[in-house]
This record gives sequence, C-alpha cells and structure tokens, in this order.
Amino acid sequence: MSAQFPGAAVPDRATVVQAEDLRQVYSIRRGLLRAPAQLQAVGGVSFAVRAGQTLAVVGESGCGKSTLARMVSLIETPTSGRLVLDGTDVTHATARERQQLRKTVQLVFQNPYGSLNPRKKISAALEDPLAINTRLSKAERAERARAMLAQVGLRPEYADRYPHMFSGGQRQRIAIARALMLSPKLVVADEPVSALDVSIQAQVLNLLADLQRDLGLAYLFISHDLAVVRHIAHDVLVMYLGHAVEQGPKHKIFAQPLHPYTQALLASTPGLVAAGGPRRERIVLKGELPSPLHPPPGCVFSTRCAYATERCRAERPLQRPVDERLVACHYAEDFLAPATGSAPLAASPTPVA
Ligand SMILES: Nc1ncnc2c1ncn2[C@@H]1O[C@H](COP(=O)(O)OP(=O)(O)OP(=O)(O)O)[C@@H](O)[C@H]1O
Ligand SMILES: [Mg+2]
Repeated sequence: MSAQFPGAAVPDRATVVQAEDLRQVYSIRRGLLRAPAQLQAVGGVSFAVRAGQTLAVVGESGCGKSTLARMVSLIETPTSGRLVLDGTDVTHATARERQQLRKTVQLVFQNPYGSLNPRKKISAALEDPLAINTRLSKAERAERARAMLAQVGLRPEYADRYPHMFSGGQRQRIAIARALMLSPKLVVADEPVSALDVSIQAQVLNLLADLQRDLGLAYLFISHDLAVVRHIAHDVLVMYLGHAVEQGPKHKIFAQPLHPYTQALLASTPGLVAAGGPRRERIVLKGELPSPLHPPPGCVFSTRCAYATERCRAERPLQRPVDERLVACHYAEDFLAPATGSAPLAASPTPVA
C-alpha cells in the first residue's frame, strides 16, 4: 500500500498497481454567471495491490468508488497524485502510452449487457481486442476466444451466439473472458456481481477467485456489499465521501473495525459476525450523506458519527497506522478491544450526540 502502509511498505516486483494520494476533482458548471463548483470525488487515496491479491473498495453510493476505478484503469487522468502500473509511472503518460498500458489493466462493469454489443456475436466481442492489439491470425484469434470461453466455464461453441441468448451470470462470464483476452495483470471490477442473483453471485465470485489463482491476477474489486467483499478480498479499503477512512488486511478489519464508519457498515450487514466473535451493537447511521460539493470541514464522517467531538468537527484526522491497518479517526485506539475479555466493540469513547 502507500509507503506507510503496514505489511507492504516497499513496493516490490510483485506490486502490480501503486496509487499515491490520488485525487479527482470535477468542475461542475452552474450557469453562465456563476463560477463552476469544484466537486472532489476522490480526495487523496493511496494503496498498492500485488499479483494474486484482491483489494476491495467499499462504501456508500457516491463515495468515489467508480471514480477511483476510472483513474486506475486509465479512463480518467487524476487531478493529482501518482499512479504506477506494472512498474511504469503512468501519471503523466501520453495518450499513446496510455493506450498501450490498457493491455495491462482491464475493466469489468456491473452490467455486462451494456458492455456487450447486442448485434455482435460473442466471438467478435472476444476477438476484437486481439485484432486491434496483436498480430495473431484470424484462426489463432478464434482459437484463443474458444479457449477463454472454456476457461470461464462456458462452452467454446457459444462463441457463435449473440449476447441476448445468455443469462446474466453467463454474460458476466463473457465480460470477464473479454477482459482477460489481452492477458492483463490487473482487473478493475466495478460492482461485477451486484446485478446478479445471490446464487449466481457466488459462482461468479468463485470463478474470479479461480482465475486469480491460475493467472496470478491482481484485482481492484469495487462493491458496496460487505458479504461479497468478505468472500473475495485480501485487503479492504473503506471510502467515505471520497476519503479512505480505514484500510488494511481483511481479517483485521472484519474482526475489529476501528473507524466508526466501518463499524456502522459492518453492523448493517447481517450474518457477518462469526459465532463466538465479539458482540457488535447495531449502529444506525444518522443523518444524510453530505454533498461532496460541501464536505464537512473536520472529519468527513463527523456529521453522522455518534462519537464526534469538537476536535472531530474542526480537525481532519490523517490516516495513521493503528493495529496493522491505516485509520483516519482521532480516537481509533479507543475502539481497540482490551487484550482480555470480549467487551462489546465501540464501547468507548462515550457517544456525545
Ligand atoms: N464525470 C463527473 N462529473 C461530475 N461529478 C461526478 C462525475 N463522476 C462522478 N461524479 C460525482 O463524484 C462523486 C463520486 O461518484 P462515483 O460514481 O465515483 O461514486 P460511487 O462510489 O461509484 O457510487 P455508486 O455506488 O453509486 O456507483 C459523486 O458525488 C458523483 O456525483
Ligand atoms: Mg459506482
């Protein structure tokens, strides 16, 4: 993760993507007479993902997950920060260099139907990236497409069919197959199973895990669903209003979330607490998510945090290492459970609101 991230302090050869303080600010036009407003969609996010590992990005709608995905997959240039992809600093890459690096990183979207042309056969969807980016012959491209269909659990002869002839789960397998045609090192998956039935979700998640194991892929996996994240992630990055509030190994964050927002997210997802684990009080998020056009001055979560103090409302907490992860909360240590006993989480500090 970032230089200060515990456990991954120094990027090594296995680091596929490294992001440092990535920011994205959009200018929003407000008519002829008013100056454009500045909307900070992502406000300085750092992480690294190694080959064979999955970093899951979680948070409520509008917290900046897709914006982060577009920056990492080179669709959008960050307003500031640094992005290193497979050892190459792509922050200031030219359009041509970006085009070449698109082979290294591929995107999978939530809605595979929207990303597959209904008038084109699956064979074309899979072979087109090869025709554009490689010198393979037509026969070689067709062979590669059929082999890839088999690898994602579909019959090779499906190559001759059209997208509407498949179920949602099959279409997402096809979208994954297409993303893998150029042998990327990093797959950015933006809510890839959110539109699928729960039973199909598990199949597609297992497929992604198998492909990761077989091909050594790194995943940046975006989801609002913590049950899905628990299934697939190695590391977790929790975002709120464009900021990373807590990030680190999945087992640390799920066992004992230290940021009140992570606590609220976990508490609102049923079935996540292991039997015999610490009792977790249900924390209901109060109030509305603030507009990213008018973020709170101190801690971005302070307007909805049950524990917020005057300090939280005035001073933005920086991310700092606490118990093997990074947390942006002035009071993170207070949420650490005592070494003995199983006191309820979030027992202190005393709620003030
Ligand atoms: N092109 C854009 N121009 C202006 N504002 C944008 C643009 N794209 C996103 N935003 C704003 O940036 C913020 C983050 O949006 P983003 O789509 O990244 O959130 P998200 O976490 O992916 O949400 P969801 O879970 O709903 O997909 C939102 O306030 C959104 O309105
Ligand atoms: Mg999104």
